[in-house]
Amino acid sequence: MFNSVRKTVFVLSGPILVGLALSACSNIASNGVASSNSGEQQDSMSQLAAVIPLTGELSSIQSQQGALEVQLVAAESQVPYRDETRWAMTYNGEVSGPTIRVKPGDQLKITVDNQLEKPTSLHTHGLHVSPDQDNPTIVIEPGTSYTYTYDIPKNQRAGTYWYHPHIHGLTAEQVSSGLSGAIIVEDSVDTELATLTTDRVLIINDPQLVASNPWSDSDEGMHMGDEGSGVDMMTAMTGRSGPVLLTNGITGVSLEADSEKMERLRVVNASASMSLELTFTGQKMLQLSSEGGRLDQPKTIRSVTLAPGERTEIVLIPSKDGGQLIAQRLSSEGEGAPIADPEVIATIGPKSGVNSADLTSVFIQRNTDLFAKEVVPDATQIISLDGHMNPTINGKLYDPNSIDIKAKKGTVEEWVIRNNTPMAHPMHLHTWSFQVDGEDGWQDVVTVAPNSEQRIRIDFSDYEGTTVFHCHILDHEDTGMMAVINVS
Ligand code: C2O
Ligand code: CU
Ligand code: CU
Repeated sequence: MFNSVRKTVFVLSGPILVGLALSACSNIASNGVASSNSGEQQDSMSQLAAVIPLTGELSSIQSQQGALEVQLVAAESQVPYRDETRWAMTYNGEVSGPTIRVKPGDQLKITVDNQLEKPTSLHTHGLHVSPDQDNPTIVIEPGTSYTYTYDIPKNQRAGTYWYHPHIHGLTAEQVSSGLSGAIIVEDSVDTELATLTTDRVLIINDPQLVASNPWSDSDEGMHMGDEGSGVDMMTAMTGRSGPVLLTNGITGVSLEADSEKMERLRVVNASASMSLELTFTGQKMLQLSSEGGRLDQPKTIRSVTLAPGERTEIVLIPSKDGGQLIAQRLSSEGEGAPIADPEVIATIGPKSGVNSADLTSVFIQRNTDLFAKEVVPDATQIISLDGHMNPTINGKLYDPNSIDIKAKKGTVEEWVIRNNTPMAHPMHLHTWSFQVDGEDGWQDVVTVAPNSEQRIRIDFSDYEGTTVFHCHILDHEDTGMMAVINVS
């Protein structure tokens, strides 16, 4: 049975002590989902979940004394799926890589050992680290390895970030096949929260579920060539997606009730192209963080939409029947209508903790408001998104040798991002986070709806260097919807 699969964490030996924390998800139930929900939709979803052998447990590695060294072996592997197996790309044999837990000020070293058939690389999405250290142009050839060193600054906001390959032309295939993992930056508020809540990581993706190895010496099928082409036109345009949403590699996790603690979940949308609207059938859902760190205070929400690449941190308060976290896939065309049936992401038991009152006393944060009246941006840029079959930024496709956008270190810039295409594009900037006009908190992905615009203000207060701004529909990124930005 798959629920007896032990998770192994590969840790480099060395002078640095690496603590191997037992997974924060270690009390995910391995039994089926018990459900007493009424309503047809709930029933059929529960039955679907009930046939799945559940593990849903991610391993986790924590920094000690300011440092952490991690080894990630990227390989094509067979992983359990229902009663069978499927092919995936894995880090250390797992369908989602180990959760990396660090603190502001830590030094994190990640060695990527590339056992794949094709080149790969690594990007720490959302981390405020230098573009030289988080360099998206590095290529790790098959059979070789590379060690990234990240000096996480003291001013890094605590929150949920993630890592994934960033190899031009192959990113969509590698991320959608399973190469991703969470990076959690923790501070003292997390220590306090941990006395009241659980702290679990849910990584959602929607891989192709293939029974025979799609990457071994075959040249048929849907492959991105090294030149970044080779997918069919439709996939290049709408992005790839798989038949079902998987959470930590399985179809819907079941979280065992912990009557002492409230269920706190960090959700990563690692899907290559799908936006997900999350709703909760229980009593109440609170949002603690957007993708760029904590909100000013916990906020009661009815739903939260995660574009590809986005994260959120939520607390779920069950009703007397427990509750289910449901994801609805949304189309990136037109108005963003629901597509496919709603899918269960996680089920929590009725006995989970309910005392949400205490959370407000744990943190009241004072996020700077870049849209406050007194803030006058140092510069304004208009960024246009054009085309349809092969969308562009400012009329250009990605060219690693040209600088498309320039900004000055130490400034705040306003960007007006105009989308002249019929599709929504979740636009992502490396290294520097920003605020979106009319939205709360800090972000690193902003979704610009078709034929509309969004205003963002970016804090360029530290780091110089060159990195990228791109669409997080990864087939768009791979086919050139990516611009080079230089900050000096
Ligand atoms: Cu999550 Cu440049 O990407
Ligand atoms: Cu990124
Ligand atoms: Cu796009």
